Amino acid sequence: MCGIIAYAGYKECQPILLKSLKRLGYRGYDSCGIAVSAVSSQQSAVPRPQDNRLATIKVYKDIGRVGDLEKSLPQIQGRVGIGHTRWATHGEVSTSNAHPHLDCSGRIAVVHNGVIENFQTLRDDLTREGHRFSSETDTEVIPHLIERYYGGDLEEAVARALADVRGTYAIVVLAAGHKELIAAQRESPLIIGVGDRENFVASDVTVVLDYTDRVIYLEDGDIALVSDESISITSRESGRGTPDSRLQTLDYRPVQREEEIVPWSPEEAQKGGYEHFMLKEIHEQPKSIENTLRGHISLIERTVSLNIRHEEGLENILLVACGTSCHAALIAEYVISKLCHLPVRVKVASEFNYHQMALEKTWVWGITQSGETLDTLRALKKARELGCATLSITNVPGSSITRIADQVFYTRSGPELGVAATKTFLAQLVALYLLALSLSPPDIMIGEGLIEGLRILPSKVQQVLDDAEEIIPHARHLSRHDNAFFIGRGINYPVAMEGALKVKEISYIHAEAYPAGELKHGPFALLRPSTPVVAITTRDDTYEAMLTSIKEIKARGPQVIALAEEGDEDIEQFVDAVIRIPPIDPLFSPFLNSVALQLLAYYTAKERGCSIDLPANLTKSVTVP
Ligand code: AGP
Repeated sequence: MCGIIAYAGYKECQPILLKSLKRLGYRGYDSCGIAVSAVSSQQSAVPRPQDNRLATIKVYKDIGRVGDLEKSLPQIQGRVGIGHTRWATHGEVSTSNAHPHLDCSGRIAVVHNGVIENFQTLRDDLTREGHRFSSETDTEVIPHLIERYYGGDLEEAVARALADVRGTYAIVVLAAGHKELIAAQRESPLIIGVGDRENFVASDVTVVLDYTDRVIYLEDGDIALVSDESISITSRESGRGTPDSRLQTLDYRPVQREEEIVPWSPEEAQKGGYEHFMLKEIHEQPKSIENTLRGHISLIERTVSLNIRHEEGLENILLVACGTSCHAALIAEYVISKLCHLPVRVKVASEFNYHQMALEKTWVWGITQSGETLDTLRALKKARELGCATLSITNVPGSSITRIADQVFYTRSGPELGVAATKTFLAQLVALYLLALSLSPPDIMIGEGLIEGLRILPSKVQQVLDDAEEIIPHARHLSRHDNAFFIGRGINYPVAMEGALKVKEISYIHAEAYPAGELKHGPFALLRPSTPVVAITTRDDTYEAMLTSIKEIKARGPQVIALAEEGDEDIEQFVDAVIRIPPIDPLFSPFLNSVALQLLAYYTAKERGCSIDLPANLTKSVTVP
């Protein structure tokens, strides 16, 4: 999704903006741009009143990669600037639609993430007033609104402009002659990176890690004034104390936001010798599982201890999430019902609003690795408004979901930069299994050795990774087709969904996941001898039924690749190829099967020469509705 970086400090900002835009690239984008408050040669070293009039805003933007923009740039001198990577929502991918956008005078520049819902009405009004627009974007109304209200106080003009706007936004405003940046957010995240004689504003923390690990998370309704040496924040929604004298008519009050330390190092956000972030992140999974488990299981007492309060009187659980996180929820649905004997439901977050769900005595868990997926944030907010207790499971410290939910369970995967979620997915499963165990009657935990099952997970996952290259021939086969089916049953049906999603996302093969028993109810019509089928044949109570499904498929000619346990020799006679999975308690089989499918997707995409970390049209965190 779109990304924002802004800098105010003692260094020349052009190289910082460009480097940060490259970092933001992992989110996916189609165009990019920067604006710098440029220093004129006539300005003196000691600021004089006339310098304001001499200051100009230089804007450079283009479609395509940041590297290409960089090559075309002159050297711009200036120590305050903003940058943006755009993922088109309103208007095609074009240079004029790329951010930053300017007002008529060319003295106010804005970068924006989010969607302005009433932009057409605002644009019509502004056009009648004489404003001229040069893009098709919703964003462009913002600098024009600020221009409409500007009477010498930029912050007030921004506050007035935002009062007219309906929708979601994270914006940074740069104005000629002003040494402060103005940042504001509503339902789209912004952080301030706090440095020494320099400060940053960005859409996520990984962008500023090269410069600082001290961050302030802005909240909805905040407006921040950020210069090289100071940060002051006022808020419309949570401000306390004396109303800000200038903004009091708009009900903004000063607010103190705590500075926090990000527990991630800049190295964690690098490829570390791997060809792609995705491959690195697949290989980091043993560590990520270990880190997420740390401190939560006791092998001696065979107990799980979480810092999560079990809500009193709750009778059922609802999981809301999107994409891969939703697949984790679907796997957890099996685990929770098996271990806890509690009714549990899963809802795709974007559908939550359309159902009149019975939510009495329901504990709602929002699962999102980024903590910023707008659909999930809105679902959890709504659940809260309806009186439900809420819990979020996320990987990103301080992300928006952590401020919405009553309680937070952090997975500890470190930053994930590949668009396709891998290590955060397995860590979500760990979190969900731990939560299920903590809610289960004690005899289940001890009787079934589940704690031990969790303990050995990192080494079991490592075994799959050690044999990663054995998956390459299967990937080569898959890569030659444009359609494929992924099938599973029981707890491994959502794993098949996740495998198909990974293949779709990064190799552009149309991969359909089905519960194996469903193929004969329609999809059989699509089976051709040339349609590969990937079947998960874990030896649990679904095994016999999976063999039946495979026989039905084979009778129609397709090639079947099975994910089967080492030692399962019988499977060979039913299928064309086998990916071997180390033996494990079937309850934990989703972990190992998922890793094998991630590798299959990765090598398939590599065979097809796809852009693995930045798939077309996709973005790492989906912050629009
Ligand atoms: C995963 O590979 C996808 N990129 C996508 O489905 C993702 O899982 C989804 O957008 C939800 O993201 P979240 O976990 O950050 O909420």
